[in-house]
Amino acid sequence: MTVLVTGGAGYIGSHTVRLLASQGRDVVVLDSLELGDKSRLGSVPLFQGDINDERIIEKICRKHNITDVVHFAAYKAVGESMDQPLRYYNNNVAGTIALVRSLLSNGVNRIVFSSSAAVYGNPESVPVTEESALRPESVYAETKSVVERFLSSCDAIGLRSVSLRYFNAAGASADASIGEDWSMSQNLVPLVMKAILGFSGPLNIFGNDYPTPDGTCIRDYIHVDDLADAHVKALDYLSTGGKSLACNVGTGKGTSVLDVLNLAEQVSGHKVPYNIVGRRSGDPISVYADPTLIRALLGWKATRDVRDIISSAWNWHERDAAAKR
Ligand SMILES: NC(=O)c1ccc[n+]([C@@H]2O[C@H](COP(=O)([O-])OP(=O)(O)OC[C@H]3O[C@@H](n4cnc5c(N)ncnc54)[C@H](O)[C@@H]3O)[C@@H](O)[C@H]2O)c1
Repeated sequence: MTVLVTGGAGYIGSHTVRLLASQGRDVVVLDSLELGDKSRLGSVPLFQGDINDERIIEKICRKHNITDVVHFAAYKAVGESMDQPLRYYNNNVAGTIALVRSLLSNGVNRIVFSSSAAVYGNPESVPVTEESALRPESVYAETKSVVERFLSSCDAIGLRSVSLRYFNAAGASADASIGEDWSMSQNLVPLVMKAILGFSGPLNIFGNDYPTPDGTCIRDYIHVDDLADAHVKALDYLSTGGKSLACNVGTGKGTSVLDVLNLAEQVSGHKVPYNIVGRRSGDPISVYADPTLIRALLGWKATRDVRDIISSAWNWHERDAAAKR
């Protein structure tokens, strides 16, 4: 089995590539490097190019005898997606169609896709199961939902896929060598670290009057190394004949914004400067996963908690900040 990882030089991709390589699996990366960093890849072969480029995919498939694909390559900024729908549909949807066309014509018919819990929008109830209604509320989330449907339709022409609906990916590698760069992300954990380390002003907390125990929004934070492991398990599931599916990747536990700040203060020994500002439109109150399906079908379960996430993120950001100063 040789795995092609698209977007493997990005945040989640690079953690997954490392895990695959550490298990002695053959792995090759295709990344445009528009948002990725090749130094994260060590000695893993990198092809710099675009998922829309059928020639490069054919070349990789032939040279490396690709059998499986993990498809991370996409744009992911929700706000930007609302202003740039053409760019998002083009990269995330048209790009995936081009990729799948090239893969199938080169005999590759197993793919693990980076979907998102954003496909559920503001869920009616929690925990969120895979039976919950799909109600994407941003262009970004629409692109994920459309690709899931596209992949599922391609079952009819021999493709098998696992769409992993990630909840909130966060944290960094245990050796503090790779993590989530705050200049590339609007996610809470890197922004908390940025505020602590003095690279930004106070963190904005969007609303503390939600109907939650401390008034701030609740999310399901999943350690990036646990997420990486879910991809490995999805590859094994497909290679042993598993049927196409879409499933949640979360811990099943909700953590509020203020919980994250408190933990960050405990772990770092520093205060997090913050301001409470108004609610942000479209922010769901509380979203956390029901992870029963992934446990039953892929044998996957999160092994790290939110404290592990914050500690690993702090270790990495502290080191990265020293290099940035
Ligand atoms: N980070 C999260 O919390 C989160 C949550 C849910 C889903 N996802 C999805 O997971 C995937 C990876 O997210 P990430 O946080 O690692 O993002 P990232 O931006 O760090 O990584 C994406 C990588 O894809 C590459 N890329 C983008 N378009 C490309 C193209 N057309 N051809 C080749 N390479 C291309 C970029 O250069 C980058 O290295 C994305 O599909 C994202 O939508 C992320």
